[in-house]
Amino acid sequence: MNLEDMRRNYAARSLDLTDLNADPLVQFDHWMREAIESQMLEPNAMSLATANETGQPSLRTVLIKGFDHCGLVFFTNYSSAKARDIKTNPRVALMFTWLPLERQVVITGAAAKITTAESLKYFLSRPRDSQIGAWASRQSEVISTRSVLETKFAEMKAKFVRGEVPLPDHWGGYRVVPETIEFWQGRPNRIHDRFRYRKESDANWTIERLMP
Ligand SMILES: Cc1cc2nc3c(=O)[nH]c(=O)nc-3n(C[C@H](O)[C@H](O)[C@H](O)COP(=O)(O)O)c2cc1C
Repeated sequence: MNLEDMRRNYAARSLDLTDLNADPLVQFDHWMREAIESQMLEPNAMSLATANETGQPSLRTVLIKGFDHCGLVFFTNYSSAKARDIKTNPRVALMFTWLPLERQVVITGAAAKITTAESLKYFLSRPRDSQIGAWASRQSEVISTRSVLETKFAEMKAKFVRGEVPLPDHWGGYRVVPETIEFWQGRPNRIHDRFRYRKESDANWTIERLMP
């Protein structure tokens, strides 16, 4: 294995100020559509960075299930490690790594729980076994064997054998309200294009080109 010799010249696309919509959410919508059209695996997967009260950062992948001018929404367990971090420090960073398009989008902002009604609406759209899975897993807790989890899943499946599976109190969505959104497009010779939107006020964003 020789990692030193692994290098790729990014040359498929470019990005100029004139290509950008004044509204970063509209720009993000364009790029998300292109990511979906490219048939890449999980275009709505993003890295979510949080930091705990000591400043220790941590990182994991989650799926965004919607976005608009209010923010980007993902769903998770409200007792998980990430949820504990967000409770003490709502500041988060998100990253979409769209390598087939030689693109990256990095967002910073703050996360807040969505309403129970919004979480319920999405929960009811999930496959029944995923709903049961949300009841079975105490996300981020240590267990001794996989069979503990499988037993819990079977228990919950039996418990909710009839009727709708209720929304667990410990499960729901967060909305990340962006404050900066950076669009990165790979270019030849590592002279990449980077543009960062910075929120000045509600509908007013400044766009700056950054050095690669
Ligand atoms: C492709 C992919 C998608 C994922 N989507 C989610 C998700 O939407 N919500 C979630 O809670 N975990 C999701 N996970 C699992 C998380 O990465 C993580 O393991 C879990 O949320 C526990 O994180 P925490 O212990 O840092 O809170 C996903 C993992 C992968 C690889």
